[in-house]
Amino acid sequence: MALLPILKFPDPRLRKKASPVATVDESIRKLAADMAETMYAAPGIGLAATQVDVHRQVIVIDTSDDRSELLTLINPRIVERDGEQVYEEGCLSLPGIYDKVTRAEHVRVVTQTLDGGEREIEAHGLLAVCIQHEMDHLQGKVFVDHLSQLKQTRIRTRLMKQARESA
Ligand code: NI
Repeated sequence: MALLPILKFPDPRLRKKASPVATVDESIRKLAADMAETMYAAPGIGLAATQVDVHRQVIVIDTSDDRSELLTLINPRIVERDGEQVYEEGCLSLPGIYDKVTRAEHVRVVTQTLDGGEREIEAHGLLAVCIQHEMDHLQGKVFVDHLSQLKQTRIRTRLMKQARESA
């Protein structure tokens, strides 16, 4: 396994749309394993392939306290959503930035699995937030897109300043 570099906002590659995985083969399993290792090392609770500059529909998530419930989503699609919740989100591509985003409280997701099968996931609360956040990444969206233009401008300025200072 290997740690993968994570793209940082406003890198334009975060805006690319991921294409569906046609066949879940060894390369996809290796990608998912590397993504999980990268997420745990960061540490984070979710990572989309887009964030490691691979534009395929692959997501890893683990919202458990003891980091024992790894979920790998391949070509996920939301088939039902309802309710509303507000959660203060963060993102490995926007270090140090946290803000409140409104999303569905419950989602039902159909996803392919690492063994090539299909499963359904019922998610509420944090897991539902995380799934929606990561699926946004696959569409080239980041969580700050849900914020006001003023906030987005401030965040972009702050992150570009951070990048200059660390360069
Ligand atoms: Ni993110």
